[in-house]
Amino acid sequence: MGIRKIVKKIANSLGYDIIKLRFSRGGGHETDSQLDSLSQARIIAEIISGCGYESYLELGIYYGATYKHIRPFVKKAAAVDIEYKEFIPLSEFFHMTTDEFFSQNETKYDVVFIDALHEYFQVKKDFENAFKCLKQGGTIFLHDTDPYSEKYLGPSFCADSYKMNDYLLDSADYQYVTIPMDKCGLTIVRRIGDNRYTQFV
Ligand SMILES: C[S@@+](CC[C@H](N)C(=O)[O-])C[C@H]1O[C@@H](n2cnc3c(N)ncnc32)[C@H](O)[C@@H]1O
Repeated sequence: MGIRKIVKKIANSLGYDIIKLRFSRGGGHETDSQLDSLSQARIIAEIISGCGYESYLELGIYYGATYKHIRPFVKKAAAVDIEYKEFIPLSEFFHMTTDEFFSQNETKYDVVFIDALHEYFQVKKDFENAFKCLKQGGTIFLHDTDPYSEKYLGPSFCADSYKMNDYLLDSADYQYVTIPMDKCGLTIVRRIGDNRYTQFV
């Protein structure tokens, strides 16, 4: 199935009404080793442009494959990483842990992509903190929630991020879908009651 169909399917299942999808061509700077990040980057970018989102926060950026791809689609972006990243403008970069970032953050974002420490206890904490700074109608993306083999349960891969599925299922506050993308999987989460039609139906 092509990426256009996948995005439309996901969008429909989450109640998005994407009328105009502006499909990205990719940044063109990515190396082969970064290609895995690109499918998720494309999906995030399509949802950002289709929904008219303007601000983006990425927790854990590594070589910046996803961040660089998404950056042209938003007016405002920020990145958090414990390792210093010289390729991100200082005005957009928070060189600190995600916990430190949230303890001082007062900005709200349309989209948050959670991809820092993959241990469940930390992903859950990042998710709960991200939700507090999510604008109304916004979307959170979680990486590493559906590893395709046992090997990917290792600490340098997805660890136990997959436990977020049960956490989300048990909550009455979120609507979500986990898609078996690439080796690690991607979960897309929105607030229950955030659909646009609730404002007039
Ligand atoms: C899997 S990589 C991120 C990949 C990136 N999101 C992408 O799509 O290309 C994880 C990153 O999270 C950072 N990291 C790990 N633990 C962290 C923490 N507690 N706070 C902030 N960053 C963290 C690591 O330094 C690494 O750069």
